[in-house]
Amino acid sequence: MKSDNDFEPIDLSKLPLHVAIIMDGNGRWAKKKLKNRIEGHKKGADTVRDIVTAAGEIGIGILTLYAFSIENWQRPKTEVNALMKLLENFFISEKDNIVKNNVKLQVIGQVWRLPKNVQTLVKELTAHTKENTGLILNLALSYGGREDILSAFKKIIKKIDRNKLKADEINEGTISSHLYTAGLSDPDLLIRTGGEMRVSNFLLWQIAYSELYISKILWPDFNKEEFLEIIGEFQLRERRFGRIAE
Ligand code: IPE
Ligand code: IPE
Ligand code: MG
Repeated sequence: MKSDNDFEPIDLSKLPLHVAIIMDGNGRWAKKKLKNRIEGHKKGADTVRDIVTAAGEIGIGILTLYAFSIENWQRPKTEVNALMKLLENFFISEKDNIVKNNVKLQVIGQVWRLPKNVQTLVKELTAHTKENTGLILNLALSYGGREDILSAFKKIIKKIDRNKLKADEINEGTISSHLYTAGLSDPDLLIRTGGEMRVSNFLLWQIAYSELYISKILWPDFNKEEFLEIIGEFQLRERRFGRIAE
């Protein structure tokens, strides 16, 4: 018999609305097991499945996953190709699950740099799940935080050029609404697995007041239990936003 609350350490009435994850540690996981790095990425894709399912079950609103950075294009071609293939497989194998679970898929980043077949799958699945009302699964693909801000700048400047916007009218909201994440609230919680203490060009503008959690666990070993543990820890924090304690 299960207890009436499967998600014991957490308070379901005080969930972070938006959780972002830097999914790091696939390579080190593989190395530890004397396997090829690609094996680590494959195992990592299984973790993605589990965490997306868990996030949907608990009732998280938005899950943003850093799957591939702009800087990651500099990895060896064999690794980049394998990652693109895994991405393709992920969209094909998960399509039914995503649809069935009412997940709305969105993508942030330079989608145009992805292989054509991956772009097609992304387009189809985002269009197909557009009206879904469950978890928003926001995948960062060929994403960089600085590029996000740069491309927002360009969009804003173009509007100024066309007299659709006045320079004086620009405020923080203008910038937020021209980022890839337009329409999404900022992450309440940013998790990085694999233990590195850096943000690696992820969501720079958007994480101004996110709570940070670095887990030493390598992404392929990460699981629902650890995820719930971190959410429980998040719920114990006091977010002051520059003010003083209540
Ligand atoms: C994260 O794992 C996956 C991607 C960046 C695509 P890594 O491949 O960076 O794994 P480590 O950091 O080398 O262990
Ligand atoms: C960050 O991990 C990017 C993703 C998880 C997609 P990296 O492994 O690329 O970051 P660095 O190189 O350690 O900063
Ligand atoms: Mg890494």
